[in-house]
Amino acid sequence: MRDNKTEEYWSRFPDTYDKKMEYVVGKELLADIIQELNHLPELGELVEFGCGTGIYTETIVPKTKSMFATDLSDSLIAVARKRIGDHPKVTIQKENCMATSFPSEALDSVFMANLIHVIESPSTLLQECYRILRKNGTIVIVTFTDHGMKLWDKIKMGLRFVKSWGKPPSHTHSFSPEDLASMMKDTGFTIKESKVIGNETKALYIIGQKDMKA
Ligand SMILES: C[S@@+](CC[C@H](N)C(=O)[O-])C[C@H]1O[C@@H](n2cnc3c(N)ncnc32)[C@H](O)[C@@H]1O
Repeated sequence: MRDNKTEEYWSRFPDTYDKKMEYVVGKELLADIIQELNHLPELGELVEFGCGTGIYTETIVPKTKSMFATDLSDSLIAVARKRIGDHPKVTIQKENCMATSFPSEALDSVFMANLIHVIESPSTLLQECYRILRKNGTIVIVTFTDHGMKLWDKIKMGLRFVKSWGKPPSHTHSFSPEDLASMMKDTGFTIKESKVIGNETKALYIIGQKDMKA
């Protein structure tokens, strides 16, 4: 999908985005993700990619010294702005996570939720994260997966997705923890933590560190 097509895709339902997300993956998984994020340590200067409406920005900001909340979609950024308000620690700006405006080795941490599984080239995104992180920098990835879900639950979730969003992006991935960890290691990250969270619906939760040898 070209960048403008991707932006169009995600920009269609700014006002009902959160409700649709809740309907597709369930309130329980969204609450489980927030619970995991609440356990994160101090993350210094952070950038969030694909912040969407800022669902997780509010949870992440207390863990940071300062943060950039970024997305490709103007209409979702507008919702995030309304939600976060004029927060002294948060800068909200448009960025394409595949090629950002951040200088190399500029940030302590990268966070992304439910982004890498909808990106055409996950390895390009990981390389961009690696480039902008300082040595020993942290990458926190949360991403929905159907890995480990029962067949019937997968079908029901697929139907809920189509009902609320229509056809999924053609390059949607469903990573196993091993696949994503292996791609992160190939980029130069050491895996610090990796787990699958959720019951009926699931998400991968992986924390990596930019290798000290970099
Ligand atoms: C499934 S949504 C997740 C949004 C939010 N993080 C959440 O968990 O609710 C994917 C988000 O990624 C954004 N996105 C897709 N491709 C992008 C790109 N190349 N650069 C930046 N953001 C992108 C979309 O605009 C959308 O907000």
